[in-house]
Amino acid sequence: MILTVTLNAAIDRTVAVPSFRQGNRHRAVEATTVAGGKGVNVARALKLLGRPVIATGLAGGPTGARLMEHLAEESILTDFTSIAGESRTNLAVIDPTSGEQTEINERGPEVTATELERFLEKLVYLGRGARICVIAGSLPPSVPASFCGRMVTELKSLGVETVLDAEGEPLEAALRAAPAAVAPNVSEAEEAVGQEFNDRDDLLSGLRGLVELGANEAMITGAEGCVASTVEGSQRRTYEVTAPELEPVAAVGSGDAFLAGYVAARYDGATPRDCLRTAVACGAESTQHFGAGTIDPDEVERIVPEVKVSELQLSAAIG
Ligand SMILES: Nc1ncnc2c1ncn2[C@@H]1O[C@H](COP(=O)(O)OP(=O)(O)OP(=O)(O)O)[C@@H](O)[C@H]1O
Ligand SMILES: [Mg+2]
Repeated sequence: MILTVTLNAAIDRTVAVPSFRQGNRHRAVEATTVAGGKGVNVARALKLLGRPVIATGLAGGPTGARLMEHLAEESILTDFTSIAGESRTNLAVIDPTSGEQTEINERGPEVTATELERFLEKLVYLGRGARICVIAGSLPPSVPASFCGRMVTELKSLGVETVLDAEGEPLEAALRAAPAAVAPNVSEAEEAVGQEFNDRDDLLSGLRGLVELGANEAMITGAEGCVASTVEGSQRRTYEVTAPELEPVAAVGSGDAFLAGYVAARYDGATPRDCLRTAVACGAESTQHFGAGTIDPDEVERIVPEVKVSELQLSAAIG
């Protein structure tokens, strides 16, 4: 079983507004509503890939109830901790005339210390039946960054592998707890290691930085694919993985699909090389769909052989 954790789950509402202009009154021509938050998107993609997954996290109020209804409609198994605060709604305005997208994201609900402890108890309970746990996305404002580290520590003590997609302080706290893998994008990785990546050498030293901060394995993603530092037996290896060029329909959430592909392959016991190949294929395929975490598994199969994986020979210097 795979677990995904979404502490700041959301209803993602997208409206299409032709010729959208700030300050004007508009009529939306189309609206869609889906359950969101990075962990939820990863669960959606894992479900589409046919892997057993339970989405957990925090949900509250009428928005939290709607979130659970949406996930039930998608046949995604859930076990969220309910909280008194209201889960957030994120709004995206797409202007079909210009192709521009404007996003307004709420910060998320108040969470009490008691609710957080209740969630941690549930996580430990669910963790007993899980092999891998994905922790992804932002934290509601009142949840301390250190909570990410606590989750990693608790899950590790149960023998569950933790895979992180977070940024800022929560990512740093999780790194200190030595997670199995982290997968930030370029700008998130730059912030974590405190250095800009101007060329490939910088990117590779960023990878080394993430490992030094505590990650066992690390990936840094970008539109071209990813670079990764993996552990195979006692050997640390470095890979560069390149996605085939695709004209994106919507790139939002491609990081979530990447993570789902990585975790699905890892769950199957694939080699690190194949995990990376599947991850990049899933990330790339997801750009062909609106809706975060939406992928077509048949298309992923078709893209997998087009993904280039090369091992870089500076592996000895890393680790
Ligand atoms: N234009 C693209 N063409 C092909 N593949 C892409 C493209 N954009 C993204 N991808 C794939 O998706 C993966 C993740 O992309 P990226 O690093 O942009 O995610 P992200 O910034 O975390 O996105 P989000 O947070 O919205 O999910 C990449 O490793 C790559 O495989
Ligand atoms: Mg991301």
